[in-house]
Amino acid sequence: MNYARVIGCGGYLPERVMPNSELEDLVDTSDDWIRTRTGIRQRHIAREDETTSEMACNAALGAIDMAGIEAGSIDLIIVATSTPDLIYPSTACLLQKRLGIRNGAAAFDVQAVCSGFIYALSIADQFIRSGTMRRALVIGADMNSRILDWTDRTTCVLFGDGAGAVILGRSDEPGIYKTLLHADGSYSEHLQVPSGVSNPTADPYIRMHGNEVFRFAVQAMDEIVDETLADTGFTRKDINWLVPHQANLRIISATVKKLGMSMDDVILTVAEHGNTSAASIPLALNTGVRDGRIRQGDTLFMEAVGGGFTWGSALIRY
Ligand code: UT7
Repeated sequence: MNYARVIGCGGYLPERVMPNSELEDLVDTSDDWIRTRTGIRQRHIAREDETTSEMACNAALGAIDMAGIEAGSIDLIIVATSTPDLIYPSTACLLQKRLGIRNGAAAFDVQAVCSGFIYALSIADQFIRSGTMRRALVIGADMNSRILDWTDRTTCVLFGDGAGAVILGRSDEPGIYKTLLHADGSYSEHLQVPSGVSNPTADPYIRMHGNEVFRFAVQAMDEIVDETLADTGFTRKDINWLVPHQANLRIISATVKKLGMSMDDVILTVAEHGNTSAASIPLALNTGVRDGRIRQGDTLFMEAVGGGFTWGSALIRY
């Protein structure tokens, strides 16, 4: 039987760090409000000339190096992003060019906002399980700073930029046990960037009904725990690490409670990274692996909610 297994991970954060204090100069907010309501202390902001594919490439190089593989052995590249470099070609194709991969590997983007990495991971898992592909590069990369209204205190304090990457390889043993993907487009107006190709003159910034997103996220993350564990033979006690989407510490705390875990069992990056959308889970994974907390054989639970609404989870043996 084929399984997909994480054989390397990487992360990239832009050099520039923006602490909460800097936002106090831009909008009517305070470090105390941001910390108390969200857990965020700072975020990284991309250079003006930086691109999503460049961030993705930096994260990919770390994952390729850790996996100890040649980039040319990758046969599938999926980039989860809501902030592509161009309308087309896809950021995945631009990344393929940056990595110099010319073996005909399939490359495409996935757009599921903050759940994008879970969506991309699940798609890559299906290809590897079916035997169609051997090795996948799965990336979450977002440059939220470009679509933030820096005069809107209800959104600009929440987000940051970054990219995270994993290499999935084919294995006889799991690996990825199970992924779940969900969406309900009837909630689309609660979190959106109104402008687009069909509507180029509309508002180009992230607009969010924070309370509605918060309520939905807590409930969806509560429900997805049991749904994910069902029929796997795993119980909550088998989970070593929660590697959640990092939007708000209070949403994460609610999931921790549901799992009967302690905050010490969570890889938390929200304080340092803010919400990096599709990048937040692979960045958290990379943090936990590189600082030695996540070890080979550990069982990980990943979960995310994002615009759409989309939501999903992954149960993984690292
Ligand atoms: O990645 C997935 C998508 N995003 C999320 O998961 C985010 C989900 N939502 C949230 O995390 C929270 O709803 C927020 C952090 C966005 C907001 O926290 P909240 O506790 O739900 O606050 P609120 O929206 O109920 O606002 C409370 C007060 C309001 O003032 P009044 O009406 O009570 O006078 C806001 O105007 O806080 C005010 N407020 C702020 N004050 C200082 C809103 N933003 C700010 C701010 N600084 N940045």
